[in-house]
Amino acid sequence: MDVLALQALKKEINKDFDNVKDLKTLDELRVKYLSKKGIITELNSKIKEIPNEEKKDYGMKVNEVRSYFNDKYESLKTTLEKEALEMKLAKEKIDLTLPSVKFKTGSPNILEKLIEEVEELLISMGYDVLDGPEVEEDKYNFEMLNLPKGHPARDAQDTFYLENEELLLRSQTSPVQVRAMLAKGGVEPIRMICPGKTYRRDDDDATHSHQFMQIEGLVVDKNISLSDLKGTIDLIVKRLFGDDTITRFRPSYYPFTEPSVEVDISCFKCKGEGCNICKNTGFITVAGAGIVHPHVLEMAGYDPKEWTGFAFGFGADRLAMLKYGINDVRVFYNTDLRETKEFDRVEE
Ligand code: DAH
Repeated sequence: MDVLALQALKKEINKDFDNVKDLKTLDELRVKYLSKKGIITELNSKIKEIPNEEKKDYGMKVNEVRSYFNDKYESLKTTLEKEALEMKLAKEKIDLTLPSVKFKTGSPNILEKLIEEVEELLISMGYDVLDGPEVEEDKYNFEMLNLPKGHPARDAQDTFYLENEELLLRSQTSPVQVRAMLAKGGVEPIRMICPGKTYRRDDDDATHSHQFMQIEGLVVDKNISLSDLKGTIDLIVKRLFGDDTITRFRPSYYPFTEPSVEVDISCFKCKGEGCNICKNTGFITVAGAGIVHPHVLEMAGYDPKEWTGFAFGFGADRLAMLKYGINDVRVFYNTDLRETKEFDRVEE
């Protein structure tokens, strides 16, 4: 290879490098010059054919052109890689000062929130939180609660029966009382609440739902009196509706308690003055309660001469509607987020 040929080759290399636009076209040059069949590689292999005395000079020239190429190649490669990286970074740049997209987050169902509030209070007083089956036996839902077959008070609870008359969707959470007593075997005291779903054959409207929630409570011990019941209920309603809430007991009837009471609380809105929430009575009914009927204790294995107890059952939906000013019970069971946005305004 003479000097002219060397210069021509360098020129070609220069021209080729001028046309390189990106890493891909740069790599095409590497192939053109340095691959197995590349121009420089071929020049190198031709050294065999060169007469011995010219070999040294020829080899130097080939090396020179190879370094010439390599230097250009490396320096352009570095530049192009830097440019590519900068472009990528520019594309991926995040402007942290831009306002973010607002994501709709869920909010807890306020019925659950209210139940948790009651649970928290009663757990702190040593109560257990129990669960019971929603598909319940007639025996627990009625018979062992002093409601034998044919008892007129059964009619008050329009019950969903399943396959046969022995199996039903529980119409109240009171059967969990029976289960709790049986589990303790008549020898241990009990302090429990069992919030849960209940079912009755009601037509669904703003104040009725075929499915609703109750918060049941049961205490069985020695020397339990009505004032223990009142003190406990008082604490619960004060926690939910404020310390100035007054609890009032009215005589009532439940087959599983004797005496039985209806629990009223002073209206938290008008403070007893009379308004649309309390229908001008100043009081709102929130629960049924009473002293556990001796026969109920006995059927569940507790000796009524030794043990006494109290029980209560709050309507949880009603409590939540009152507390949060909701006038349609159906929103609690609605999964449409547009409807349940009512819950969002309830502060954490
Ligand atoms: N189970 C009753 C109902 O659904 C409510 C109730 C009343 C529960 C008195 C009780 C109680 O535990 O002692 O109407």
